[in-house]
Amino acid sequence: MTLTFSDFKDQAKEILNIDLDGYKLDRVERRTKSLMRRYEVDDFNECIDLIKNDSTFREAYLNHFTINTSEFFRNPESFKFLENEVLPELADKKRKIRIWSAPCSNGCEPYTLAIILKEMGLRSSQFEIYASDLDPAILDEAKSGVYRENAVKNVSPELMKKYFKEDPTKDNFYVLDSKIRNLVKFEEKDLINGRFDRDWDLILSRNFFIYLTKDMKDQLIKKFLSVLNQDSYFFLGNTEYIFSADAYNLEKVYQSIYRYKKD
Ligand SMILES: C[S@@+](CC[C@H](N)C(=O)[O-])C[C@H]1O[C@@H](n2cnc3c(N)ncnc32)[C@H](O)[C@@H]1O
Repeated sequence: MTLTFSDFKDQAKEILNIDLDGYKLDRVERRTKSLMRRYEVDDFNECIDLIKNDSTFREAYLNHFTINTSEFFRNPESFKFLENEVLPELADKKRKIRIWSAPCSNGCEPYTLAIILKEMGLRSSQFEIYASDLDPAILDEAKSGVYRENAVKNVSPELMKKYFKEDPTKDNFYVLDSKIRNLVKFEEKDLINGRFDRDWDLILSRNFFIYLTKDMKDQLIKKFLSVLNQDSYFFLGNTEYIFSADAYNLEKVYQSIYRYKKD
């Protein structure tokens, strides 16, 4: 029997242990079909077989469907606002600022924060940066701290000189200094099914909700807010938006940065 996309999705969900129903399904179908074309896979039956039995294909599928694009200082003006307004306020108020980048992809986002905090003159005992993603391969990349030229295009020449070195083994790749790498703790986590730690002053969940259904986005916003502290901040991607922010006790303070006040 030939599997339909809906059958395929149900079986892939079980094998990969990912709640594919939480993602925009037309997009999942498009991404699945484009990977099948690339690997010359004829139908969903063969695709399921490969996901089940071929670890290289399974990794490629996960990679293709999740989209790992990221860069340092993505939307620089928003990071300037964090640097000038949000982080100084948190540093004044808190003995230790707790920050979570979820999802973090290849680490550009949490490392950008580490660079900013270091440049602000904060000591490492004054903040904690955690970073989570579903994809183990991208987390390995994040920990290695090696980046293509494109990922560092928004880093100023001064910061490049201070925190990056040219990779001696590969042209146009840069290695991030270990004193920044050591400031971020990475962990593998499925944000849809996983348990969240509490007590965050700033959560970045950027360029993730765009892939999710409206219901899943709403569930996740509530899940993130349930672990944010009073007067904390929630930072989305620049094309992402929370309708009726008031209803969530969120106040927009800049583009896609919101302040959270519990009831
Ligand atoms: C486009 S990246 C965003 C990275 C970064 N926040 C940024 O804006 O530059 C999206 C990331 O979401 C991750 N992802 C997708 N579904 C996830 C899930 N259920 N749990 C955790 N991470 C997930 C992907 O692996 C990918 O690294």
